[in-house]
Amino acid sequence: MVSPPGRDTVGWGIAGCGWVARDYAAPAIRESSNGRLLALFDPDADAMARIVGKDGAVRSTAALAALLDVPGLDAVYVATPNHLHRPIVEAAAAAGKAVLCEKPMALDLADARAMVAACNHAGTRYATAFDQRFHPAHQAAAALIRAGAVGRVTALRIVYACWVGATWSADNWRIDPARAGGGAFFDLAPHGLDLASMLLGEPLVRAEILGQHRLHDYARGPIDDGAMLVAATASGVLASLHVAYNCPEFLPRRRLEIMGERGQLTLADTMGQTPGGSLVLHDAAGAREIAVAGIGRSPFTAQVEAFADHLLGRRPFGFEPGQDLETMQLLATLRDRIADRPPVQGRA
Ligand SMILES: NC(=O)c1ccc[n+]([C@@H]2O[C@H](COP(=O)([O-])OP(=O)(O)OC[C@H]3O[C@@H](n4cnc5c(N)ncnc54)[C@H](O)[C@@H]3O)[C@@H](O)[C@H]2O)c1
Repeated sequence: MVSPPGRDTVGWGIAGCGWVARDYAAPAIRESSNGRLLALFDPDADAMARIVGKDGAVRSTAALAALLDVPGLDAVYVATPNHLHRPIVEAAAAAGKAVLCEKPMALDLADARAMVAACNHAGTRYATAFDQRFHPAHQAAAALIRAGAVGRVTALRIVYACWVGATWSADNWRIDPARAGGGAFFDLAPHGLDLASMLLGEPLVRAEILGQHRLHDYARGPIDDGAMLVAATASGVLASLHVAYNCPEFLPRRRLEIMGERGQLTLADTMGQTPGGSLVLHDAAGAREIAVAGIGRSPFTAQVEAFADHLLGRRPFGFEPGQDLETMQLLATLRDRIADRPPVQGRA
């Protein structure tokens, strides 16, 4: 909780000011009804300048301790490369700050557990920034499933793919195992695994995985450029998840389907960082698009508002760190299986 009690705004800092912070997290905090962006931390002054813009109220620092010392700072949004999540979360927790940390939580399960333990020990709130939980179409789909719109669910199918070339960013840490922790699977699958759990109301527990080294020269060892998962929940729902760095972005590549005994929900272009997309219900009466309230609103904004409301004591956040650790455990286990077994080889 923020102190003193009775405040109506959470003071935010951001650690790591690259793509996700600049284009999504910072705008979300700025347009949120209950948050204020107070300070940034990044060794790259230009990265911070791109977020600060003309906003003289936001402080920039290249020292984490200085960020954590900013008066009124309640929460830190962690958006650094993955290997830095643990030390930053631990430092923020030790300073009594709440943390919203980007996915994947950390490089491995032990680090992720240590992060949650540090927050618990300090009495601060930890959450993983699974923004897609807050996409209105995903929330509408979850509500329709709970209301029985498709009957008993039999299967969930997800495609979440993009193109990441070797020079995708100036410092492409995503293809460096020491900083990323894995390739396309480790980067993209967390969203699908988390959404499966949210939509089905139970996690995936049995899973098989194949990774591939297919199109990109950087794809080798633990860095796959595509992976396909088949899995099941304890109650018997089957799931498939195809993630890839080797999918041209002009192709249809963000799709989520939930099939049941009486119908199917199809969500197109809802997964990802941006608002929008569509939700269609197919059943015996035919197919119809479901109007989703707030579909044009950024899921990042809804996420930071929900987290801040929780810190202000107004409502539960709805997602516990234990669930994130379960997802991390499955993610790390499958990542290790890709690394241990020869991935599907053969570049055309
Ligand atoms: N939720 C999503 O949809 C989504 C999308 C993209 C990225 N992400 C996650 O967000 C995180 C950041 O990804 P990105 O694409 O923005 O990366 P990026 O490379 O664009 O930005 C990373 C930033 O971290 C900074 N940085 C490097 N070392 C640092 C240090 N020691 N202390 C503080 N900052 C440091 C870099 O200077 C850079 O500005 C990753 O964990 C990634 O998996 C999530």
